[in-house]
Formats: sequence, structure tokens, C-alpha cells
Amino acid sequence: MKAAVLEAYNHFIWKDVPTPEVKEGEVLVRIQFASICGTDMHIFPGDFHPRTPVPFIPGHEMGGIVAEVGEGVSGFEPGDKVAVDPIIWCGECPACQRKHYPACPRLKLLGVDLDGGFAEYISVPPHMLFKTAPHLPDEHVALVEIYGIGFHANNRAGTKEGDTLAIWGAGRVGQVILQAARTKTKGKIFLVDPAENRLQIAVNHYENVIPVNPKKENPVDAIRRHTEGNGVDIAFEAVGHAEEIAGVFNPVRCCVQSLRGGGRVCVLGLGDDPAPVVFKELIWKEGHIITSRVSDGEFTEVIGHLNAGNLKPDALISKVMPGSEIQKAFELVQHEKEKYLKVLLDFR
Ligand SMILES: NC(=O)c1ccc[n+]([C@@H]2O[C@H](COP(=O)([O-])OP(=O)(O)OC[C@H]3O[C@@H](n4cnc5c(N)ncnc54)[C@H](O)[C@@H]3O)[C@@H](O)[C@H]2O)c1
Ligand SMILES: [Zn+2]
Ligand SMILES: [Zn+2]
Repeated sequence: MKAAVLEAYNHFIWKDVPTPEVKEGEVLVRIQFASICGTDMHIFPGDFHPRTPVPFIPGHEMGGIVAEVGEGVSGFEPGDKVAVDPIIWCGECPACQRKHYPACPRLKLLGVDLDGGFAEYISVPPHMLFKTAPHLPDEHVALVEIYGIGFHANNRAGTKEGDTLAIWGAGRVGQVILQAARTKTKGKIFLVDPAENRLQIAVNHYENVIPVNPKKENPVDAIRRHTEGNGVDIAFEAVGHAEEIAGVFNPVRCCVQSLRGGGRVCVLGLGDDPAPVVFKELIWKEGHIITSRVSDGEFTEVIGHLNAGNLKPDALISKVMPGSEIQKAFELVQHEKEKYLKVLLDFR
């Protein structure tokens, strides 16, 4: 098969590699599309070294069609359309024993810790596969994983009908949090990002989304003004490496300041710098800070909503390129970061 092998950091080669053997208890999937993630953009230049020794095949957001079913596998047949859940938890640690899988300290991901889906085929055990409706466009199947992150964040935060939300970051993660939230509440959603084009994508596709550019107005003031001074039920941080903006606190502290009494902050950004919070501001509200990591079985929830047409995957797709042009695709995203949300690679 052909695969996109990261031969050295910053250097993909599209080349022939052995097609994975379909071992007993595994399913061979013919990948149709895979999506480039922010994490891939860090793996590419070697930021994840030594976790990702090269050469290897990245790619953890992928969908495809079952090509072959190994011995002892039931419930799948050739032709089934499937999303691949890349998460491998250990099953033995205290977190796994309590079925709190995203908290597994030994958690591994296909395409990060092992070869992944930037290839024509992948062979995985059936518990990592989730069937979609046959009518779902192949492009959309590759977005199930990132949607899982958005749904998991909302489930961690307990978003429910009537809730008013604020989301810091209108990038890939912020957009899927917003889309997932819209399946749960019709309430106001404030979206905070200095990138106007990214705010616009959400506003063009959804009602009752209030864009806030923190370079133009103080986001906490704007949120208070639009909520009769009360603040929001839940504030999500989906920024990570935050751009410093004069006169505005870091996103996590802004989230805390935007809450109503008893509200919840849900932090997802994986920045390396501390994000100072004045705890008095949270304690006065008896607020909560929670975190959200990857997803935990939300693939089923996502696929239900995609099958039913409740999500807007096309709003996320900025560009589709052939798998063979992966090097060019990564360079494009690297050089014009803000222009692209999801770039899909076509492995058909
Ligand atoms: N917890 C998880 O499960 C999980 C999963 C995937 C990614 N992440 C992390 O989430 C973060 C976001 O990922 P992404 O792929 O959406 O990145 P992204 O670059 O697409 O989006 C980040 C956005 O934040 C905006 N931004 C920068 N500074 C800001 C500020 N001061 N205020 C408001 N907005 C600001 C940027 O303009 C950009 O649009 C990253 O740190 C990533 O590693 C977490
Ligand atoms: Zn990802
Ligand atoms: Zn574990």
C-alpha cells in the first residue's frame, strides 16, 4: 500500500510500505479520508520527540471502509463505513479500573504513539471502529474524532438546554465545542477569538452566536453586557498557546470572570505556560474548573448526530488534498495557520 511516512521531522515521503496483515481479532480498513489535527502540526516539526520517533505514519483522525474481517471478529463486514477511534488505554491503571479512560496515564494514540491513518490501510481491533450510516459522505467520517472532543467537553461540562455559553478560541476545537453545544442548547453562545474569519465561520452557520474579538472589546465586559450582568453558565477554554492581548487577561482567567454564580469553566487548551487564575474570583461564585481530554465513547453520540444531519461538518473543511500531497498540505497549514480549519487528505 501507499502511506505518508514521516521519514524525518518536517519531511513526509509518499511511498510503498507493506499492507498491514489482518491478524486474528482485527479488521482491515481501507482509509478514505484523514484529517490533519493541531497535534499533527506539532508532530511534524518534532515537538513530540521522543514520543514520536521517526520514521512513522502519523494520522489519528480517519475514516474508511471495512476491507477485510479477521478471524473471530463479528459485527463487521466488508463495505461497512467506519470511523476509527485512535485511543488505546491500558485497562489496568486506577483510572481505567474506574472506567475513566481519558485519565489513563498510559493512554496511547494511533498516529502518535503507533503508526496511524495517513495511509491506504490500517488494521485495528473492532472495538476501535464505529459504523456510520452508509449515506454519510466519506469526508465527514474523518471528522468524527474531532467532533468527539467537542461532545466530550460538553458532556464533562454538563451542557443542557437553556444554558448560555462562552467559548475562547474559534479554531478547530472551539468550533466543534460550539457545534456539539448547539445540539444541546439553543442559548446564547459567545465565541471569543482575534481571528475574524474564524468567528465569521460560526456566525454564518449558526443562530444566536455572538462573536467577540478581544482585540476590539474586552470579552468579559461584552459577555456581562449581553447577559444582564449575570455571566454565562459554562465557559470553555480552547486556545492553548494564547496570544497576549493588551488589557485582556489570559483566556482561563477570562473564563472564570465570565461565569455566573455556580458556573463551570472547562479547560481544553494544551499550552505549556501557566495560566494564572485569581481563585478569589472563582470562590466568590463557588464556581468549578474542570478539564476535558480527548473523548470517551462519544463516537456513538457524534455519529448519531452526523447521520441525522444535526452537525455542519462542511463548515469545518477548509481544503481537501490528495494523500500523496501531504508534504504540501502540512506546509500550507504551517505557513497560513489561521486560513485553514480542517484540511482533509484523500487516500481513496
Ligand atoms: N483537551 C483535548 O482533548 C484537546 C484535543 C485537541 C486539541 N487540544 C488543544 O486545544 C487547543 C486548541 O486547538 P485547535 O486545534 O483548536 O487550535 P487552533 O490554533 O485551531 O485554535 C486556537 C485559536 O485560539 C485563538 N486565540 C489565540 N489567542 C487567543 C486569545 N488570547 N483569546 C482568544 N482566542 C485566542 C487563535 O486565533 C485560534 O483561532 C490546543 O492547545 C490543542 O493542543 C486539546
Ligand atoms: Zn486530533
Ligand atoms: Zn489506564
